[in-house]
Amino acid sequence: MLFPALPLREVGAKVMIDVLFVLDDKTETPAIVTRAAAMFSVARVSASGIGPEHVSSARVMVVHAALRNLHDVARIEDACDELRRRDDCVYVAKGSERAGIVQAESVGIGRVIAAHQPLEDVLAAIQCILNRDLANRLDGYPEQVIETINTTGTLFQQVAAAMREDGPLPLRLLSDSSRNIGAAIECVGLVEWINAVEMHHSQTCRHVLMVAGYADAFARSLGLSASDTLLFTKASLLHDVGKLFIPIGILEKAGPLSEQERRAIMTHPLRGAKALRKGSGAQPLVIAAARSHHEYLDGTGYPDGLAGGQICPLVRMLTIVDIYSALRETRAYKAGMTPRLAITEMAGMKGKLDPRLFAAFRDMVLNPVFGSQRSSRGPETRLANDCLLNGIHPLDRETRPLEVGHRAFG
Ligand SMILES: [Fe+2]
Ligand SMILES: [Fe+2]
Repeated sequence: MLFPALPLREVGAKVMIDVLFVLDDKTETPAIVTRAAAMFSVARVSASGIGPEHVSSARVMVVHAALRNLHDVARIEDACDELRRRDDCVYVAKGSERAGIVQAESVGIGRVIAAHQPLEDVLAAIQCILNRDLANRLDGYPEQVIETINTTGTLFQQVAAAMREDGPLPLRLLSDSSRNIGAAIECVGLVEWINAVEMHHSQTCRHVLMVAGYADAFARSLGLSASDTLLFTKASLLHDVGKLFIPIGILEKAGPLSEQERRAIMTHPLRGAKALRKGSGAQPLVIAAARSHHEYLDGTGYPDGLAGGQICPLVRMLTIVDIYSALRETRAYKAGMTPRLAITEMAGMKGKLDPRLFAAFRDMVLNPVFGSQRSSRGPETRLANDCLLNGIHPLDRETRPLEVGHRAFG
């Protein structure tokens, strides 16, 4: 087996998780738990030990227990009553036991799924509740932002399916999402975009949407061409695609990683690049970005230990926005850093990052007005030609003034 047993969360941890499984015995791992743990962050608790504190730490509760014991039924009912979460609950029947279904219906659990129904029905029910939860939390943001986050979520699902089946990538949706992210940031500003993205329940989606947001902003602040900006945003959206092969339980583990788990995560650049090569249609530079975004200029990165001129400008820029996003994000195992702290941390990575690009990025994110600018962002000049597409360092190119009324990034 390639990966260790799934490290499910201990319930009661301070972080929100996606799905709480309520089981007869919390040490059991039924098939639905294994399947769900590959897609969502998951914890489990026994029916006899559940309390409101467990329910409040999860967005969805899935009861997969026989419910023969009336004491257990009462505890579940109390936990649901306390938080009025019955619409966020799913009961998955065990075997042919009818009693459990009757008990689940009696306590008003919103959705009951019979044992003969496929596991996909359970996963779809979980996803449906998570989507509703996300919609609630995005309430009040402009429609354009909500639409872009939802569309990008659909993009990830389609990319995951394409990679599982070695099928063609949804290239049109990828381009649309990349452009829409730029338009959404133009509408609300980078800071509001990041705030909205932080509402997303999936850590991986949050990360990729943030990296794409910073990438779009960085490209514009450097005055990159429309083609380069689109390429950079697309590469950002797909850079961690190899993580789709790694269980969420490892990716979002709250505690320290074991050596085996750390090695499993470090496989994601190679796995992502390999999958993108097999699924037809990804640009070679996008594949290179997925493979090399953890490389450092001093040769200490992975997977290939590339150094200096072996690392193209697109990858150098992606590495900077990727690290910055990771430092800024709050994750299950750490708090997010302030912009200044994150930049200080990165400034300590001597020799690893492109110093000129890092200086430009630092000036951008520490500029007090930059993040709230809504339109006409970027410098008053833009680069005359495509740099990233041609492997040319953006800061080595001549610029020309923006034409009045010219929309460089439609
Ligand atoms: Fe990565
Ligand atoms: Fe990343």
